Amino acid sequence: MLTKINHLGVAVNALADALPYYRDQLGMAFKGTEEVPEQQVRVAFLEIGESKIELLEPTSTESPIAKFLEKNGPGIHHVAYEVNDIAAAIAKLEADGARMIDKTPRKGAHGALIAFVHPKSSNGVLTELCQSAH
Ligand code: CO
Repeated sequence: MLTKINHLGVAVNALADALPYYRDQLGMAFKGTEEVPEQQVRVAFLEIGESKIELLEPTSTESPIAKFLEKNGPGIHHVAYEVNDIAAAIAKLEADGARMIDKTPRKGAHGALIAFVHPKSSNGVLTELCQSAH
């Protein structure tokens, strides 16, 4: 069902402050930024091998990322796994009794379809299913 780790989501207060660490100090390939209005975030992607780091900056105080930062400070927010068929993956998880935040896929960055599994059903690690647009 899962094919690889697509990305790790990292909550940051400001992309501009966090980017130099990943891009310049760690030397990752910066793939650009994108605003995702549905999530009230601006994201920056950095590529490392087959996986990416997704930096998430809130664009409003109502953003889920703003709430996360308020509670926990900056840090790892979610793990995103690549799936070939997100509808099938959601159906399988639900059939196994998992609680989904998103019962139907929604649009993420780069035209991907994404769905989050509730942390209560994923051992406290917010889990994202991600079907990349190819
Ligand atoms: Co993500």
